Amino acid sequence: MLSNYSNPEIISLVEKKLDNLLSNDNNIAARDALLIEAMRYSTLDGGKRIRPLLTVAAGSLSSSSIDNLITIGSVIELIHCYSLIHDDLPAMDNDDLRRGRLTCHKKYNEAIAILAGDAIQTEAFRVISSDKLNISANTKLKIINLIATSAGHNGMVGGQALDLINTGETLSLVELQNMHSKKTGALIKAAILCGYLCGDNYHDDIFTKLNTVGDNLGLLFQIADDILDFTSDTLTLGKTAKKDFVYNKATYVNILGIEEAQNMAQKLYEQTLIILESLSNSKQLVDLTHFIYERSS
Ligand code: IPE
Ligand code: IPE
Ligand code: MG
Ligand code: MG
Ligand code: MG
Repeated sequence: MLSNYSNPEIISLVEKKLDNLLSNDNNIAARDALLIEAMRYSTLDGGKRIRPLLTVAAGSLSSSSIDNLITIGSVIELIHCYSLIHDDLPAMDNDDLRRGRLTCHKKYNEAIAILAGDAIQTEAFRVISSDKLNISANTKLKIINLIATSAGHNGMVGGQALDLINTGETLSLVELQNMHSKKTGALIKAAILCGYLCGDNYHDDIFTKLNTVGDNLGLLFQIADDILDFTSDTLTLGKTAKKDFVYNKATYVNILGIEEAQNMAQKLYEQTLIILESLSNSKQLVDLTHFIYERSS
């Protein structure tokens, strides 16, 4: 739940778009339908949809069209959903619960979960490169490049690899920050920058500021996730609480302690608000910054 900062109209547009993108309207045979069923299971009816909300919020600073923003935000959400399916696999975090339901490999099986993740990711790039996105070819290429870079080995997947290697290790603050910025920060930052890039009212100095906002909010989001693992419960989170703690994952809480993790989160939150206050039309981004800092799930 997005508590006070919810934007139900945008969320409902995103839900509709995702449903539509993954529709099973080809009447395919039951045997073939299992893959699309697993893709839909792990994408629809759940999740805070924070990335598309950030895309729409950033787009309002460059007068981007809502249709394009919903398409870009939904594509980034698809990549996020694929990353969750793979993150939960036995070879990775080995989780049984996601968004209050069985994880994809528990509901179906491991092979289907791997394939559903793969297919969701390729679908994302199919959609973003299609004529569903009504912007100049140049801007479209820039956006595709940014999403691919943030999702790949220099971003999310690279960060996930570091997460596995770093489990049980004592990291320096720089190493910890690098891992978090890649595994979670990169895609969140891309969600913001792509929203801004797709509008006509573009200014380099605002893009530079949003770059820093993206860095801060991406890192803050994962620090908050680390804190919630320790302070919240399974029912509220919809995923197993205290898992990072028990498995000695390299989190801000495990390495710095809960108080220091909370201090870091507060610093990032305050620094982000200062930047956003210097920008006009930033109310939605301010609201989402409050939410990312104060969220309970
Ligand atoms: C969870 O992301 C995984 C991380 C990157 C920390 P979210 O907290 O955005 O998960 P949903 O989409 O709301 O379930
Ligand atoms: C996941 O980080 C980051 C991803 C890229 C999916 P976590 O492993 O901490 O996410 P949760 O806590 O399982 O949602
Ligand atoms: Mg993980
Ligand atoms: Mg996990
Ligand atoms: Mg986590």
